[in-house]
Amino acid sequence: MCGIVGYIGNKEAVPVLMNGLSQLEYRGYDSSGVALFDEDRLDVIKCKGRLKFLEEKLAVKKYTGTIGIGHTRWATHGEPNDINSHPHLSNTGKIAVVHNGIIENYLQLKEFLMTQGCVFMSDTDTEIIAHLIEYHYNMIGDFVRAVMEACGELEGSYALGVLCADVKDTFVAARKGSPLIVGLGDGENFIASDIPAILKYTRDIYILEDKEIAIVRKEDVTVYDGYGREAKKEIFHVDWDVEAAEKSGYEHFMMKEMCEEPRVIRDTVGSRIQKGSINLNGISLSEEYLRGIEKIYIVACGTAFHAGMIGKYLIEKLARIPVETDIASEFRYRDPIISDKNLVIIISQSGETIDTLYALREAKQKKAKVLSIVNVVGSSIARESDGVLYTMAGPEIAVASSKAYNAQLSALTLIALDFASKKGEITKEEEARLTMELLQVPDMVEEILKDKENVQRFAAMHYNAKSIFYIGRGMDYALSMEGSLKLKEISYIHSESYAGGELKHGTIALIEEGTLVVCCMTQDSLFQKMISNIKEVKARKASIMAITQKKNAAEAEKIADIVITIPDIDPILAPIAAVTPMQLFAYYMAVLKGCDVDKPRNLAKSVTVE
Ligand code: AGP
Repeated sequence: MCGIVGYIGNKEAVPVLMNGLSQLEYRGYDSSGVALFDEDRLDVIKCKGRLKFLEEKLAVKKYTGTIGIGHTRWATHGEPNDINSHPHLSNTGKIAVVHNGIIENYLQLKEFLMTQGCVFMSDTDTEIIAHLIEYHYNMIGDFVRAVMEACGELEGSYALGVLCADVKDTFVAARKGSPLIVGLGDGENFIASDIPAILKYTRDIYILEDKEIAIVRKEDVTVYDGYGREAKKEIFHVDWDVEAAEKSGYEHFMMKEMCEEPRVIRDTVGSRIQKGSINLNGISLSEEYLRGIEKIYIVACGTAFHAGMIGKYLIEKLARIPVETDIASEFRYRDPIISDKNLVIIISQSGETIDTLYALREAKQKKAKVLSIVNVVGSSIARESDGVLYTMAGPEIAVASSKAYNAQLSALTLIALDFASKKGEITKEEEARLTMELLQVPDMVEEILKDKENVQRFAAMHYNAKSIFYIGRGMDYALSMEGSLKLKEISYIHSESYAGGELKHGTIALIEEGTLVVCCMTQDSLFQKMISNIKEVKARKASIMAITQKKNAAEAEKIADIVITIPDIDPILAPIAAVTPMQLFAYYMAVLKGCDVDKPRNLAKSVTVE
């Protein structure tokens, strides 16, 4: 995610802002910038790349001002480049904004602002905020109220820092969905996306709540709630060290990233569902093209491949288009029989996995259209695709993918629904029902995360296991593959994933007393079949962990040693939520074994070698 820092006090702002931004580098970024006062005008200094390039630009001129805002950008809308970097200015240059989050209604607001004569310089959603605040400022003449009015019209998530050229003793901060804190100093005050940015100067902070707006001056901070009432804020004293603070208090990045899953799913689907229908903006494919596709190939590696397997079920079930999944390192060497009659969907968190990139090139060489699902804007795979659907997971620091996988499943669901709707395979009512349920998934994951201690207790009984089996049927089979991989890559415990109906064809010979079998059983139509498969392994005295919907918990509890439930949901959407318990299980097993959860042995976050 992006990083925000703001300062007002008696020190020169530049060193404070640059120190703060350097403490936020761990969040991942592709550009940075600051907004400072220079006499009576606002200067914005910003550029693509690492912070050192910004430092070089700042060295050109001496800024002695004691107020400013700064930003590190993780691109979500618009390529990483100088123009798209933050801060963004309004047309008169009076308003400067830094933003973390996603404005879901930015296109509608952009259209309106253009009718008001606003000229846009960038491809970002953020820029509309600067113009919108100026629009209200021109009407009201009050900077703070203009920010309040603008925030009331923004849909989606935002953490904002805002400067106004006419008001040199104040800056404004606002928060909805994306974290933002206010640092409280002596004769100086700060804002930041995360605690590390200001830990050098103060350990006393306000944690802004959703829809709160902070008016920050050097001698005082006033916070208003979403109704414009002054909020009574508790001072939170930070006793973390810097390293812990980078994880916002979580022990590992992986746990932090799992806990981000509700926001990630919300950000990935939110701006692409409008009034119950899917809007994939620039990557929509026509009904005619979709009807002409003979087969879709989904190609990826590792976790992304497992997401692709779920995508196969989704697209075939909803859009009735044949789908073949392929591991990228196999696809590119088997001389695949593809042509312009095929769509190839490439999935990659990093967008740099070399096997997947070469598979993309193989597909393009054979004239197939390539649509990619990528988490890093401007990455190699994104740049070489015909269309890109970005996941909005933010940077994933832990080597083992968690939130990015949930985001990939969310993106694949959007694609399957879009294709099905375009082809008339689902009615508008069905599309509206499924999209509404999809919008509920973040809250469901939130609920699952609240139950994580239950998973931790069960892991404490099994972390010495030598081998663990994961079984499932249909989409749950693909899901069990991801559960098995998570366990292997961070706890180093051997594991295998099997189709529930396949275990009895040989591998059940390995099941003995105490062998743990994790059973994914979220699919209503296959639930009783899974009950039978559980009875087969129970007969060999296996231990059972079942993951199922709440409505089936009672029946599963009769034969499982532990049942982790997910809220009741249409089975076709269940995997997005059902993977979280398995991610948590793998995490606790690794922690209990004393493994390096975020940096497992032998692994790299992005495999850029063959
Ligand atoms: C995921 O936990 C693994 N670290 C690995 O399998 C990963 O999914 C794979 O290397 C693909 O990476 P990508 O999504 O960045 O292409």
